[in-house]
Amino acid sequence: METVVSGIRSTGNLHLGNYFGAVQNFLKMQHEYNCYFFIADYHSLTTHPTPSDLHNNVRRVLVEYLAAGIDPEKSTIYIQSDVPEIPELYLLMNMNAYLGELERSTSFKDKVRANPDNVNAGLLTYPVLMAADIIIHRATKVPVGKDQEQHLEMTRTFSNRFNRMYDVEYFPEAQAFNFGTELIKIPGLDGKGKMGKSEGENNAVYLGDSPEVIKKKVMKAVTDGGPTEMNQAKPDIIQNLFDIMKAVSSKDTLDHFNELYNKCEIRYGNMKKQLTEDITHFLTPIREKIEDIERNEDYLRKVVTLGQEKARESAGKTIREVREIIGFKKF
Ligand code: TRP
Repeated sequence: METVVSGIRSTGNLHLGNYFGAVQNFLKMQHEYNCYFFIADYHSLTTHPTPSDLHNNVRRVLVEYLAAGIDPEKSTIYIQSDVPEIPELYLLMNMNAYLGELERSTSFKDKVRANPDNVNAGLLTYPVLMAADIIIHRATKVPVGKDQEQHLEMTRTFSNRFNRMYDVEYFPEAQAFNFGTELIKIPGLDGKGKMGKSEGENNAVYLGDSPEVIKKKVMKAVTDGGPTEMNQAKPDIIQNLFDIMKAVSSKDTLDHFNELYNKCEIRYGNMKKQLTEDITHFLTPIREKIEDIERNEDYLRKVVTLGQEKARESAGKTIREVREIIGFKKF
């Protein structure tokens, strides 16, 4: 069975866009692959070295992924900093990662531009840590979006360089991977692009939002004066509502509002009411699970311990073999 690894950023709560983009993919993958999902708390230190937030952010992300349906028995879900084999492999891989190639990384350049006062070495070697995350389980598949393609390319460079350097065929090439063909993109409520918190308070609906908050956000979504011609194309600030509806509502509901739009008989207030209802219906069981798991310290401890055990078993094997390949020997 092929191995999948994915790192989850430990900053920020999950919204509907994350759910239909990444999480749903993970849910399908866990039945068909040997999956390792981890919360990338070491990575978060490159930009967010804030002790007061660290634990709660990790905890919240863990709770939300579990509530969304990641099964800790089927997949291995763990915290990056619980697996010391990862930083060991990171150290070893740093010996054949070159300054020039690390400086050329677009995400590094973006972060330098955004935070010129915090250009730390961890930021520079972020791609080496990410490579270590992936190759520690000798994974071949990595479910990430386009923004991570360059990091994956670097992962392959480091793996291949290691293999060449020691004349082995040890690390496989990791490829970007999505389950099924097309990723569902959820636009933001403001119709100005994808859903995300950086776009403003009311742009995203979070998995943990209460029915009142969902209602408030959806009803505030900007619309236009309505279609004036039969079957006219929808502008972005209207199409977004239809796209969200496509993800959470029944086909009949979607068809119904499409028909009203095409006949110029749509009332956006009604559509938003329906959308509020369907998002709430979709999210209520997830929100209830979040609240449930959030309180269940014992369960969380069990999940984390089990994940750590399974991850270290796989990671330990790789580290033993890598140390042998490099030439470390026991006295
Ligand atoms: N860099 C990834 C992101 O920003 C997170 C990440 C860290 C990751 N390590 C990983 C993703 C390993 C996949 C595999 O989203």
